[in-house]
Amino acid sequence: MTKLDEFISSNRERFEQDLRQLLKIPSISTDGSYRTQVAEAADWVLAQFVELGFRTELIPTDGHPLVYAESAPVSNRPVALVYGHYDVQPPDPLDEWISPPFEPTVRDGNLYARGATDDKGQMLTHVKAVQSWIETEGTLPMQVKFLIEGEEEIGSPNLSHFLQSPDAAKRLACDVIVISDTSQFSKGHPAITYGLRGIAYFELILTGPKQDLHSGTFGGAVANPANALTKMLSALVNDEGKIQVPGFYDDVEALSDRERSQFSALPFNERSFMEQLGVAALAGERGYSTLERRWARPSFDINGIRTGYQGEGAKTVLPNQASAKFSFRLVPNQNPDAIAASLRTMLEELCPAGITLELKEMHHAPGFTVPLDSPYIDAAAKAIEQGFGHSPVFIREGGSIPIVSRFTDTLDAPTLLLGWGLTDDNTHSPNEKFSLADYHRGIKSSAHLWYELSRIAV
Ligand code: BES
Ligand code: MN
Ligand code: MN
Repeated sequence: MTKLDEFISSNRERFEQDLRQLLKIPSISTDGSYRTQVAEAADWVLAQFVELGFRTELIPTDGHPLVYAESAPVSNRPVALVYGHYDVQPPDPLDEWISPPFEPTVRDGNLYARGATDDKGQMLTHVKAVQSWIETEGTLPMQVKFLIEGEEEIGSPNLSHFLQSPDAAKRLACDVIVISDTSQFSKGHPAITYGLRGIAYFELILTGPKQDLHSGTFGGAVANPANALTKMLSALVNDEGKIQVPGFYDDVEALSDRERSQFSALPFNERSFMEQLGVAALAGERGYSTLERRWARPSFDINGIRTGYQGEGAKTVLPNQASAKFSFRLVPNQNPDAIAASLRTMLEELCPAGITLELKEMHHAPGFTVPLDSPYIDAAAKAIEQGFGHSPVFIREGGSIPIVSRFTDTLDAPTLLLGWGLTDDNTHSPNEKFSLADYHRGIKSSAHLWYELSRIAV
């Protein structure tokens, strides 16, 4: 592996340039006006694999294309499937960026750009690792397949469809799935993530009178959709942080004592966490620690509210409509469909007379954990130790990667979540960054991963 390690360190500059190129493409999947740029990012990723001599395919969908590539089969060795995403979240609020989101800029050893860590930078570590194998050894020690999608940030609707097609399972057949789209525990503590929360995302639209009204002439006599919205939303969670949707906790997988003590043994400092976020206190479900709340308990958050007068100064108006986007993070065993049905009944009962309700179900995905007693986990731990100089800690995380549980259903292979990011990388926020040192450590870990995995008997 010395030759490979040397190759990786002497190609740092070149690998950084490649990442910068990809980061310049504003591949914002949620916004239809960026369709060509999303396609451009797909083409860019595909071209990487074409250059490596992989068998490649740009798979069109009803939305954004899938990039598929595979190296040559190696008999008697396991097959890995790397999943990642080339799409990014919108960059706004734009005026809070120190350097523009699509002009990658280095400050203090960090590369700043939308998508730097989520997920272009992390995804590219695996591309650069296979490239390093090909350019030093001429080949990989095992077959590696890549499926890089452009709709992760919108819930992977078309990849879900693709997985249902009869030949998808055959094409993607593998022994292990590898994803780098999570985080290290903290600086200097690389991690293997063995669980993610799921999500159920909704939009609630309340409509009252046929148009906005004078709140003096009509206020107090006509139901106000904004008043109704705040009342209905605040009924969803109580002061102890317990979600009030009937049956919400019925299937929740409880935290074991063992897991609780493992979480509390991690070096987590509430003070510096609060400092990092600029808050004077933490909040959440009573009876649980911050890590438990973030990783293994459900939560409810309003993601956006729209209603009434938003302009400068005051306007006495009774708005005719109010809407909110909100989501629940789910833990293993909770059923998003059952929760959606129960929520609908609850909101219909809460909705006052004189107001009509529309509840849109947006994306949803279950939470999951993966077993830790597997040779694949052991191999990943060894590889990370090579790449980062420390053995990984085992954590869960609170975010969601909707496709993972669908992979598990279709492909019957365990998932390795190997995150190279940091929790202060500002994902989905202004000034997203990725540490360049972690980018290179990720490449090195990935290069070692193919070696370690190739030694597992299949
Ligand atoms: N990379 C994240 C998922 C993630 C975030 C994992 C934090 C672990 C910790 C992914 O790109 C993401 O943002 N997922 C969305 C999914 C949603 C749009 C369906 C999320 O979690 O909000
Ligand atoms: Mn991501
Ligand atoms: Mn994301």
